[in-house]
Amino acid sequence: MKFFLDTANIEEIRQGLDWGMVDGVTTNPTLIAQQGKPYLPTVKEIAQLVPGPVSGEVLATDYDGMMAEAHRLADLADNVVIKLPLGPPGLKAVRALAEKGIKTNVTLCFSAAQALLAAKAGATYISPFVGRLDDVGESGMELIEQVVAIYANYPDLETEVLVASVRHPMHVVESALIGADVVTLPVGVLKKLYKHPLTDLGLERFLADWQATGKSFED
Ligand code: E4P
Repeated sequence: MKFFLDTANIEEIRQGLDWGMVDGVTTNPTLIAQQGKPYLPTVKEIAQLVPGPVSGEVLATDYDGMMAEAHRLADLADNVVIKLPLGPPGLKAVRALAEKGIKTNVTLCFSAAQALLAAKAGATYISPFVGRLDDVGESGMELIEQVVAIYANYPDLETEVLVASVRHPMHVVESALIGADVVTLPVGVLKKLYKHPLTDLGLERFLADWQATGKSFED
Protein backbone atom coordinates (compact mmCIF):
# COMPACT_ATOMS: atom_id res chain seq x y z
CA MET A 1 0.00 0.00 0.00
CA LYS A 2 1.29 3.44 -0.90
CA PHE A 3 1.29 6.29 1.63
CA PHE A 4 0.83 9.83 0.35
CA LEU A 5 1.07 12.83 2.67
CA ASP A 6 -2.01 15.08 2.60
CA THR A 7 -0.41 18.49 3.11
CA ALA A 8 1.12 21.52 1.43
CA ASN A 9 3.49 22.12 4.35
CA ILE A 10 7.11 21.74 3.27
CA GLU A 11 8.45 20.89 6.74
CA GLU A 12 5.86 18.11 7.16
CA ILE A 13 6.82 16.71 3.76
CA ARG A 14 10.54 16.84 4.62
CA GLN A 15 9.79 14.98 7.87
CA GLY A 16 7.75 12.26 6.11
CA LEU A 17 10.43 11.83 3.44
CA ASP A 18 13.13 11.59 6.12
CA TRP A 19 11.16 8.76 7.76
CA GLY A 20 11.01 6.94 4.41
CA MET A 21 7.25 6.63 4.53
CA VAL A 22 6.12 9.05 1.84
CA ASP A 23 5.41 7.74 -1.66
CA GLY A 24 3.68 10.91 -2.84
CA VAL A 25 1.76 14.03 -1.77
CA THR A 26 -1.78 15.31 -2.24
CA THR A 27 -2.68 18.99 -1.98
CA ASN A 28 -5.95 20.86 -2.34
CA PRO A 29 -6.82 24.59 -2.39
CA THR A 30 -7.57 24.58 1.36
CA LEU A 31 -4.21 23.03 2.25
CA ILE A 32 -2.30 25.50 0.05
CA ALA A 33 -4.33 28.45 1.42
CA GLN A 34 -3.32 27.40 4.95
CA GLN A 35 0.35 27.94 4.02
CA GLY A 36 -0.29 31.55 2.92
CA LYS A 37 1.88 31.01 -0.16
CA PRO A 38 1.19 31.40 -3.93
CA TYR A 39 -0.59 28.50 -5.61
CA LEU A 40 1.49 27.25 -8.55
CA PRO A 41 4.92 27.89 -6.96
CA THR A 42 3.83 25.85 -3.93
CA VAL A 43 2.85 22.86 -6.08
CA LYS A 44 6.15 23.21 -7.97
CA GLU A 45 8.21 23.35 -4.77
CA ILE A 46 6.53 20.18 -3.46
CA ALA A 47 6.93 18.37 -6.78
CA GLN A 48 10.65 19.17 -6.81
CA LEU A 49 11.05 17.84 -3.26
CA VAL A 50 9.06 14.61 -3.62
CA PRO A 51 10.18 11.83 -5.96
CA GLY A 52 6.65 10.38 -6.27
CA PRO A 53 3.33 11.73 -7.56
CA VAL A 54 2.16 15.14 -6.31
CA SER A 55 -1.50 16.07 -6.82
CA GLY A 56 -2.23 19.70 -7.64
CA GLU A 57 -5.86 20.71 -8.03
CA VAL A 58 -7.45 22.92 -10.69
CA LEU A 59 -9.41 25.94 -9.44
CA ALA A 60 -11.54 26.43 -12.58
CA THR A 61 -15.01 24.87 -12.73
CA ASP A 62 -15.56 24.87 -16.51
CA TYR A 63 -13.98 22.43 -18.96
CA ASP A 64 -11.84 24.95 -20.88
CA GLY A 65 -10.61 26.57 -17.69
CA MET A 66 -9.82 23.18 -16.17
CA MET A 67 -7.85 22.13 -19.24
CA ALA A 68 -5.87 25.38 -19.29
CA GLU A 69 -5.02 25.06 -15.58
CA ALA A 70 -4.28 21.34 -15.96
CA HIS A 71 -1.63 22.13 -18.56
CA ARG A 72 -0.10 24.85 -16.36
CA LEU A 73 0.10 22.32 -13.50
CA ALA A 74 1.43 19.51 -15.71
CA ASP A 75 4.16 21.82 -17.04
CA LEU A 76 5.50 22.39 -13.50
CA ALA A 77 7.11 18.95 -13.23
CA ASP A 78 6.77 15.41 -14.61
CA ASN A 79 5.42 14.03 -11.33
CA VAL A 80 2.48 16.45 -11.02
CA VAL A 81 -0.90 14.68 -11.09
CA ILE A 82 -3.87 16.85 -12.03
CA LYS A 83 -6.63 16.82 -9.42
CA LEU A 84 -10.09 17.49 -10.79
CA PRO A 85 -13.50 17.52 -9.11
CA LEU A 86 -16.25 15.08 -9.91
CA GLY A 87 -18.87 16.28 -12.38
CA PRO A 88 -19.20 16.38 -16.17
CA PRO A 89 -16.52 19.04 -16.87
CA GLY A 90 -14.01 17.40 -14.52
CA LEU A 91 -14.49 13.92 -15.97
CA LYS A 92 -14.46 15.23 -19.53
CA ALA A 93 -11.11 16.83 -18.70
CA VAL A 94 -9.90 13.54 -17.17
CA ARG A 95 -10.61 11.74 -20.45
CA ALA A 96 -8.90 14.42 -22.55
CA LEU A 97 -5.85 14.45 -20.26
CA ALA A 98 -5.66 10.62 -20.20
CA GLU A 99 -5.54 10.65 -24.01
CA LYS A 100 -2.48 12.91 -23.74
CA GLY A 101 -0.85 10.64 -21.14
CA ILE A 102 -1.37 13.15 -18.30
CA LYS A 103 -2.19 11.58 -14.93
CA THR A 104 -5.27 12.62 -12.97
CA ASN A 105 -6.76 12.31 -9.49
CA VAL A 106 -10.55 12.67 -9.29
CA THR A 107 -11.46 14.35 -6.03
CA LEU A 108 -14.61 14.86 -3.93
CA CYS A 109 -15.89 11.32 -4.51
CA PHE A 110 -18.70 10.34 -2.14
CA SER A 111 -20.41 7.42 -3.93
CA ALA A 112 -19.59 4.19 -5.74
CA ALA A 113 -21.43 5.46 -8.83
CA GLN A 114 -19.11 8.49 -8.96
CA ALA A 115 -16.08 6.21 -8.62
CA LEU A 116 -17.32 4.07 -11.52
CA LEU A 117 -17.67 7.17 -13.73
CA ALA A 118 -14.16 8.34 -12.85
CA ALA A 119 -12.69 4.96 -13.78
CA LYS A 120 -14.60 4.93 -17.08
CA ALA A 121 -13.19 8.39 -17.83
CA GLY A 122 -9.67 7.00 -17.35
CA ALA A 123 -8.68 8.56 -14.02
CA THR A 124 -5.32 7.48 -12.64
CA TYR A 125 -6.64 7.81 -9.06
CA ILE A 126 -10.08 8.11 -7.49
CA SER A 127 -10.23 9.89 -4.11
CA PRO A 128 -13.20 8.82 -1.97
CA PHE A 129 -13.41 11.07 1.13
CA VAL A 130 -13.95 8.72 4.08
CA GLY A 131 -13.78 11.20 6.97
CA ARG A 132 -16.29 13.62 5.47
CA LEU A 133 -18.74 10.72 4.93
CA ASP A 134 -18.30 9.60 8.55
CA ASP A 135 -18.95 13.22 9.59
CA VAL A 136 -22.45 13.12 8.06
CA GLY A 137 -23.36 9.73 9.53
CA GLU A 138 -22.47 7.58 6.52
CA SER A 139 -19.72 4.95 6.41
CA GLY A 140 -16.58 6.04 4.59
CA MET A 141 -15.08 2.58 4.81
CA GLU A 142 -18.18 0.97 3.29
CA LEU A 143 -17.62 3.17 0.26
CA ILE A 144 -13.99 1.98 0.01
CA GLU A 145 -15.18 -1.66 0.15
CA GLN A 146 -17.66 -0.98 -2.66
CA VAL A 147 -15.20 0.84 -4.91
CA VAL A 148 -12.43 -1.76 -4.48
CA ALA A 149 -14.95 -4.57 -5.20
CA ILE A 150 -16.38 -2.83 -8.27
CA TYR A 151 -12.95 -2.09 -9.76
CA ALA A 152 -11.90 -5.73 -9.11
CA ASN A 153 -14.85 -6.91 -11.22
CA TYR A 154 -13.39 -5.10 -14.25
CA PRO A 155 -9.64 -5.73 -14.53
CA ASP A 156 -9.51 -3.38 -17.55
CA LEU A 157 -10.16 -0.44 -15.21
CA GLU A 158 -6.73 0.76 -14.14
CA THR A 159 -7.82 3.49 -11.72
CA GLU A 160 -6.20 3.23 -8.27
CA VAL A 161 -8.26 3.74 -5.11
CA LEU A 162 -6.72 6.60 -3.11
CA VAL A 163 -8.40 6.85 0.29
CA ALA A 164 -8.70 10.55 1.22
CA SER A 165 -10.06 12.57 4.15
CA VAL A 166 -8.32 10.15 6.51
CA ARG A 167 -8.79 11.11 10.15
CA HIS A 168 -7.30 8.29 12.28
CA PRO A 169 -5.17 5.11 12.14
CA MET A 170 -8.18 2.79 11.79
CA HIS A 171 -9.03 4.41 8.47
CA VAL A 172 -5.54 3.33 7.34
CA VAL A 173 -5.73 -0.20 8.76
CA GLU A 174 -9.21 -0.83 7.35
CA SER A 175 -8.16 0.56 3.95
CA ALA A 176 -5.24 -1.90 3.94
CA LEU A 177 -7.51 -4.82 4.92
CA ILE A 178 -9.87 -3.94 2.07
CA GLY A 179 -6.94 -3.64 -0.36
CA ALA A 180 -7.08 0.05 -1.30
CA ASP A 181 -4.05 1.09 -3.36
CA VAL A 182 -3.15 4.34 -1.58
CA VAL A 183 -4.03 6.29 1.56
CA THR A 184 -3.29 9.99 1.82
CA LEU A 185 -2.54 10.96 5.40
CA PRO A 186 -2.27 14.16 7.41
CA VAL A 187 1.15 14.03 9.11
CA GLY A 188 -0.58 13.69 12.51
CA VAL A 189 -2.14 10.38 11.45
CA LEU A 190 1.20 9.14 10.10
CA LYS A 191 2.79 9.89 13.50
CA LYS A 192 -0.01 8.02 15.30
CA LEU A 193 0.62 4.91 13.18
CA TYR A 194 3.99 4.47 14.89
CA LYS A 195 2.62 4.70 18.40
CA HIS A 196 1.66 1.98 20.88
CA PRO A 197 1.94 2.41 24.67
CA LEU A 198 3.49 -1.07 25.02
CA THR A 199 6.25 -0.10 22.59
CA ASP A 200 7.18 2.93 24.72
CA LEU A 201 6.90 0.96 27.98
CA GLY A 202 8.88 -1.96 26.60
CA LEU A 203 11.72 0.27 25.40
CA GLU A 204 11.81 2.11 28.74
CA ARG A 205 12.16 -1.24 30.57
CA PHE A 206 14.82 -2.65 28.22
CA LEU A 207 16.97 0.46 28.66
CA ALA A 208 16.43 0.66 32.44
CA ASP A 209 17.36 -3.02 32.87
CA TRP A 210 20.61 -2.60 30.98
CA GLN A 211 21.41 0.70 32.71
CA ALA A 212 21.01 -1.10 36.08
CA THR A 213 23.99 -3.33 35.22
CA GLY A 214 26.20 -0.21 35.19
CA LYS A 215 27.76 -1.39 31.94
CA SER A 216 27.91 0.40 28.58
CA PHE A 217 27.09 -0.70 25.04
CA GLU A 218 30.75 -1.76 24.52
CA ASP A 219 31.07 -3.74 27.81
C1 E4P B 1 -7.06 14.87 -0.41
O1 E4P B 1 -6.82 14.64 -1.53
C2 E4P B 1 -8.27 15.53 0.08
O2 E4P B 1 -8.40 16.80 -0.47
C3 E4P B 1 -8.22 15.57 1.57
O3 E4P B 1 -7.87 14.29 2.04
C4 E4P B 1 -9.50 16.07 2.23
O4 E4P B 1 -9.37 15.89 3.62
P1 E4P B 1 -10.34 16.62 4.67
O5 E4P B 1 -11.71 16.03 4.53
O6 E4P B 1 -9.75 16.31 6.01
O7 E4P B 1 -10.32 18.08 4.34
